[in-house]
Amino acid sequence: MALKNILVTGGTGYIGSHTVVELLGSGYNVHIIDNLSNSDRSMLERIHQITNKIPYFTQLDLRNKIDVFKFFEKHTKFDGIIHFAALKSVGESVFQPLKYYENNVVGLLNLLEGSSQNNINNFVFSSSCTVYGSPDLVPVTEHTKFGHTPSPYGATKQMCERILDDYSYSSSDYNTISLRYFNPLGAHDSGIIGELPSGIPNNLMPYITQTAIGIRPYLAVFGNDYSTPDGTAIRDYIHVMDLAKAHVKAVEYFALQTGKVNEKINIGTGKGKSVFDIIHSFEKVSGIKLNYKIEGRREGDVESIYANATKAENLLNWKAELSLDDMTRSAWNWEQKYRKEG
Ligand code: NAD
Ligand code: UD1
Repeated sequence: MALKNILVTGGTGYIGSHTVVELLGSGYNVHIIDNLSNSDRSMLERIHQITNKIPYFTQLDLRNKIDVFKFFEKHTKFDGIIHFAALKSVGESVFQPLKYYENNVVGLLNLLEGSSQNNINNFVFSSSCTVYGSPDLVPVTEHTKFGHTPSPYGATKQMCERILDDYSYSSSDYNTISLRYFNPLGAHDSGIIGELPSGIPNNLMPYITQTAIGIRPYLAVFGNDYSTPDGTAIRDYIHVMDLAKAHVKAVEYFALQTGKVNEKINIGTGKGKSVFDIIHSFEKVSGIKLNYKIEGRREGDVESIYANATKAENLLNWKAELSLDDMTRSAWNWEQKYRKEG
């Protein structure tokens, strides 16, 4: 049976908002819940500008069990949930571990308990390649074992996957897919939505675009002494719109199955790119010479990780289509438009 009404937690955030645009464009009804701790209500208007539709919105903190239960008493008609809401700063999680465990793990528990009242049996979870830690072999497949994650953030992703496994096992008809994202980059083509980190960016792409636009003096490249072709670390960068489409495919997959679903799926391009590859692509598409300096390695960084993404292709009929230049071009377009027009 086709799914129609989707609850999206964290839907005003970076990946959530791009996914909501794809869901609305594919004809789904969307209800967002978000506590706006790392996003803004104005995102709803931006989504409207792109899609001509306004998703339902409830400001709600998933840590608050009573509010979550009240929400599910009032709203009963969801066919599926996509759960993006989480805190995501790897570095911050090291210094504030309890905040991360409470937000990401307790938030999931409350959501599962609350939604269980309403028999919502289809659940997509935002996991991360961070669950693999520092793998011995790349590319990683879904059979690659969990590795040691130096950050509490990574530990929350491993724990949440385990909770979903146990929950799925305990029920005869609970369907869950954990999408293990690699490194999302870029923005919607319109430049109306994109990644807007609060404060100083931790991630590479927003740091590059903020340097190019003059907000940061230079980009620090964290290490050029890795055992990689150009000495900088390797990641699997994926366009956020490709990632958004993977969520729609996951929801479609639920509708096509008759048996129970419990899957983990890598969502990447299958191609490893270095920090210098990103810089060179950015310089090519923007025509700007980026000011950067080589600095020491960042603590906790993995040398090289990229996906074997064949399971996504076989199971979901999804594969990344956009190139690295598409990612850097759209990120730059978004940064310029945002700084000019807000
Ligand atoms: P984001 O911070 O832009 O979006 C997360 C949203 O969740 C925000 O709008 C925030 O306000 C909301 N939120 C956080 N805690 C909440 C709570 N307790 N109750 C209600 N709302 C809450 O992050 P994003 O980059 O869009 O990431 C989305 C998901 O994908 C997260 O689970 C993240 O861990 C995961 N992920 C992100 C990346 C990445 O590099 N961006 C990579 C792998 C996995
Ligand atoms: C990490 C996690 C990812 C998590 C994400 C959230 C791994 C393998 N990945 O991504 O699962 O969801 O954090 O934030 O643990 N870099 C610089 N200079 C900068 C910023 C980054 O050189 O100013 C380099 C980093 O050293 C890294 C690459 O750019 O090699 C990408 O870094 P970043 O964008 O922070 O993502 P990850 O650390 O890979």
